[in-house]
Amino acid sequence: MKMERTSVFHATSPQTHAIAKLFYFDLAISALIFLLVTGLVVFIAIRFRRRADAEIPRQDLGDPKLETIWTVIPALILVGLLVATAYTMHRVNPPVGERAPDVVIVAHQWWWEFRYPQVRVTTANELHLPLGANTLLRLESADVIHDFWVPDLAAKSDAIPGHPSFVWLTPEREGIFLGSCAEYCGMCHGQMGIRVIVEPPEVFAQWLQRQQRTPAAPPNDAAAQRGQRLFLAHTCMNCHTLAGTAAHGVIGPDLTHLAERQTLGAGVLTNDAVRLAQWIAEPQRFKEGCHMPNPRLTDAEARDLAAYLEALQ
Ligand code: CUA
Repeated sequence: MKMERTSVFHATSPQTHAIAKLFYFDLAISALIFLLVTGLVVFIAIRFRRRADAEIPRQDLGDPKLETIWTVIPALILVGLLVATAYTMHRVNPPVGERAPDVVIVAHQWWWEFRYPQVRVTTANELHLPLGANTLLRLESADVIHDFWVPDLAAKSDAIPGHPSFVWLTPEREGIFLGSCAEYCGMCHGQMGIRVIVEPPEVFAQWLQRQQRTPAAPPNDAAAQRGQRLFLAHTCMNCHTLAGTAAHGVIGPDLTHLAERQTLGAGVLTNDAVRLAQWIAEPQRFKEGCHMPNPRLTDAEARDLAAYLEALQ
């Protein structure tokens, strides 16, 4: 699947098209004002310069008509910008009414929880969405203020504790769209990546079906079985949920289908068995300050745990 260019100039939903249109409109007006003002300054400086030492230019002490004009015109321009902005805000973020959200996003220090409440699926850091569907996201925070920002797809929006906000988006193209947290939220703010995977509706439906299977798959080789015992015997389960086992922690990401994800640690590492074992053994090496402690495992134990988790599709 194609990785899309991440840019506010790469609008890929009606919402971001509307935002881009407003930006170009504001830019055009600002450019006109800039050209007019600098042009006049240069023109006047040359045209009315002092030509001889003895000469004193004509002295004007105010002109009420002129001053009224240059107050009213900027005021009208500002009203025009206000109307265009309010119109765009309404188009991008219409009232939610009774509509239930398709996805509830809970921002955490420093990862994203994605819940699909209608089908009871929970995942992390990678948001799957069906192509062309008018999707409503509900944004919450578990701790401090974060900001959900995927420039190609949706309006930038704060996730505020105790005060949910809503984001509409209708993806127009399939692909992988990157985003990030856009509100400084502590040590790992810069390692709080978002990956939106837009896929055809039937592929999305298959993904959702796989996510609904619990437990994901029983471990079928010796290393994975040892890994499962380690997982349930160590402190992993205090923080992580793994559906179908006794692990119901809600501090860290849900690991039920970890193997389906492309990255680890909210985008810091590609997800494969080797990197997962390194991540488990030493998360602080890759994401210093994150809330996952180094768990004091031997290398072999970390590899067994990784073998177990990488089988969870
Ligand atoms: Cu979360 Cu910055």
